Amino acid sequence: MTKSLTIPPLTADLAQVLIDAATIERRVDELAAEINKDYKDIKEPLILVGVLKGSFIFLADLCRKLRIPHVVDFIAISSYGTGGTTQGNVRMLMDIREDMSGRDVLIVEDILDSGNTLAYLQRNFATRGANSVKIATFLDKPERHKIELKLDYMGFKIPDVWVVGYGLDYKEKYRTLPYIAEMYPANEE
Ligand code: IMP
Ligand code: MG
Repeated sequence: MTKSLTIPPLTADLAQVLIDAATIERRVDELAAEINKDYKDIKEPLILVGVLKGSFIFLADLCRKLRIPHVVDFIAISSYGTGGTTQGNVRMLMDIREDMSGRDVLIVEDILDSGNTLAYLQRNFATRGANSVKIATFLDKPERHKIELKLDYMGFKIPDVWVVGYGLDYKEKYRTLPYIAEMYPANEE
């Protein structure tokens, strides 16, 4: 017998729900459909590279809707503090296990903020002989870009506010909320 899940309520730190779970699901369906179409003739499995930790929920939802051959891998990159965004200097902490030479790679990210992380990854992967390197990001904060990047797949554009849930955290809190919520500005560093 199934029991309906209760949605975790907003806590005192959270201002409002920006994107609810049903809206997220519909958008992830659409993104998966685009990816299925674009890679329909792929020969070797597409390598999905999730950027830890923020992308893990988006990646899990997305990959279960793919109907093309694919494998899942992860990378970890250095971050500055546990609550903030990256500065110009990005470093790889854990690399993928797959050899990407001659392969098609899709980087899966939670959010594009300054663009430092994704620009670094694109540069790094380009030197490793991948056949193609594309980007899928769940969220995009256009007002914060310092580097312009081509986003091949993008879920939602959001304003310059700190958001949590669906993989995104604030000092490791709120990462597993099933929706995207905005934090009160006073609580963001
Ligand atoms: P970028 O390198 O400046 O583009 O930073 C991207 C990273 O900063 C993301 O992968 C997130 O981990 C983090 N980040 C940026 N904005 C937010 C946010 O609003 N909530 C949670 N994490 C964020
Ligand atoms: Mg991230």
